[in-house]
Order: sequence, then C-alpha cells, then structure tokens
Amino acid sequence: MEKSAKIYIAGHRGMVGSAIHRKLLSEGYTNLVTRTSSELDLRNQQAVTDFFVAEKPDYVFLAAAKVGGIIANNTYRADFLYENLAIQNNVIHQAYETGVKKLMFLGSSCIYPKLAPQPLKEEYLLTGLLEETNEPYAIAKIAGIKLCDAYRAQYNCNFISVMPTNLYGYNDNYHPQNSHVLPALIRKFHEAKVNGTPEVVIWGSGSPMREFLFADDLANACYFLMQNYNEPHLINIGTGEDLTIKDLALLVKKVTGFEGALTFDSTKPDGTPRKLMDVSKLHSLGWKHQVELEEGIHLAYQDFMAKHI
Ligand SMILES: NC(=O)c1ccc[n+]([C@@H]2O[C@H](COP(=O)([O-])OP(=O)(O)OC[C@H]3O[C@@H](n4cnc5c(N)ncnc54)[C@H](OP(=O)(O)O)[C@@H]3O)[C@@H](O)[C@H]2O)c1
Repeated sequence: MEKSAKIYIAGHRGMVGSAIHRKLLSEGYTNLVTRTSSELDLRNQQAVTDFFVAEKPDYVFLAAAKVGGIIANNTYRADFLYENLAIQNNVIHQAYETGVKKLMFLGSSCIYPKLAPQPLKEEYLLTGLLEETNEPYAIAKIAGIKLCDAYRAQYNCNFISVMPTNLYGYNDNYHPQNSHVLPALIRKFHEAKVNGTPEVVIWGSGSPMREFLFADDLANACYFLMQNYNEPHLINIGTGEDLTIKDLALLVKKVTGFEGALTFDSTKPDGTPRKLMDVSKLHSLGWKHQVELEEGIHLAYQDFMAKHI
C-alpha cells in the first residue's frame, strides 16, 4: 500500500478498527477514510453505494460488524445474522463495483466446527457442525469468506479473509452482559475490589483453555498481511498459545489488585474445552505476536480505568 493510498477503515471506532487506524497512522498513512455508524449505516445498501462512488477508496479494512459475547450472540440471533450479512454484502460488493485494489475481511475463530481437532487449522472450515449459541454470527462470517473467494474467482478481486482468535485491548466492550470473557473478568475483578466484595465467582470449572491476542498485535498482523498475503480461503491470526480460564482469572486478579477469594461455580456450563488457533501458516510468512498476555491485560486495565471509571 502506497503511503498516499486512500484507505477506508470500516468500524474505526471499534476495538479492531481503532487499532488498525492507529497502526496506519503510525506507519505514515495520511489518506484514511472513516465514518461512524450514524454517519454511514453499512446495513443500508444505497448509502454504502453512494459512499463508495463518492470516495472510491483504494484499500478497505472491513472491521465493522455486530459483535458480542455468548449471551448477546444467542439472544439476538436474527440481528447477528441479518446485520452482519448486510454489512459485509454491501461493503464487499461495492468494493468490487468501484475497483478497490484490495480488501481485508475480518472473521473470527467461531467459524470453525464445534468439535474440530485442536489446534484449529484453516482447512477445518466447513468440516462439521458449528457451536449452536453463535451459529448465526458464524454463518454470516463464513458467507463473508465465501463472498471474498467468489469475487476473487469470478472477477479477480484481491479480497482476503483473516480469522483472529479472541481479542482484547484498547476500546474493548465492558458491557456487564454483552462482553467477551477477558473484558468481563477485568470489570468483575475491578468492581469486586472497589466494592470490597470478599469473593469473585466465575462461571464453570475454570478448566477450559482459551487463546488471547492483544488488538494492537492483531492490527500489526492485518497490516503485515495486507502487504504480504494475496490468497483465497482464510488465514488464522493468533498467538498459538493458550491457558485455562482459571489461570486467566488469576492473572486478571493479580493485575487488578483484587485481594479476595476466587471460586468457580461448576454447576454452570463450561463451553468448548479448548479453542486454540493453529498459526503455523501466519508464522511461516514471518509474523509473530509481540505483546504477552500479562502486559496486555495491564494495558487493557489502564484503558478500562480511563474510560469507564
Ligand atoms: N472482539 C473480538 O474478540 C474479536 C475476535 C475475533 C474477530 N473479531 C472481529 O473483528 C471485527 C471487529 O470487532 P470489534 O471487536 O472491533 O467490534 P466492536 O468494538 O464492537 O466494533 C465494531 C464496529 O463496527 C461498527 N458497526 C457496527 N454496526 C455498524 C453499522 N450498521 N454500520 C456501520 N458501522 C457499524 C461500529 O461503528 P460505530 O462505533 O461507529 O457505531 C464499531 O466501530 C469483527 O468483524 C469481529 O468479528 C473480533
């Protein structure tokens, strides 16, 4: 990407989009195009058409989506399927119509079958049934991957799909019901500390294993892949390292400074026992994460305190 190229970051106020925006600014890109969802509702086909015709971006990072944790995904099933399909259909099609040089579509690790072998390799896509709770979201993301591939096959568009693992970082969502596990733990431990609560109870046994990537590392990977990767199908982005929810909770407890007890409510469901990305394809291209988990949680906690307290 030339430094003067016009680059549209869809979803630039979100955790991922804002990290990509910061990364591009730090690399010296000056011609960045952004719109909030109230300025441009990407579900609106005509509005997206008018925007692309007027702006004609050279490159697109598609980081706008309806995103949430397990409860949100399961509760708003229609919204997650409809809104994500609408956003990606409109943006990907207009990128084709207006001759965008390259587009990156962001998916998620939930596209893989629930019982796929671990670690998750890119070729496991569509080899089994999805996790029921986030099936609508995953179906939308799989459609996005296939749409990019179809425009590449039929119209020779350079549209690529990347699948990040669980993310956390600046501008994360700390909503009490709709957030992902790591920001939810940060909020829970912080509130217990300030309220003097003697105990924090975590749902499940604490034994499931999960992988986490700092969003600024993801943005570095996206930037790297935008320069170095031009293939159909998909590529995983993660650390290739995981830990138990119990160890994660202990880390968040340490970072937030909560001094009470930590207990696990094993009567609540655990979810998938393990979800780890195979990142050998990404590593073979020469990219590796830089921010380790404890350091990243410190940075995320500072951001939480600055914005939510
Ligand atoms: N968070 C994770 O752990 C994670 C993991 C893997 C993959 N991802 C992927 O990364 C991408 C971004 O996720 P995120 O965590 O950054 O989400 P986020 O913080 O919730 O941000 C989503 C962004 O999408 C924009 N948006 C939503 N609906 C829109 C609409 N109708 N029109 C225009 N813009 C709209 C929002 O814009 P406004 O702020 O202007 O309203 C917001 O900035 C998603 O594709 C997601 O699947 C995230």
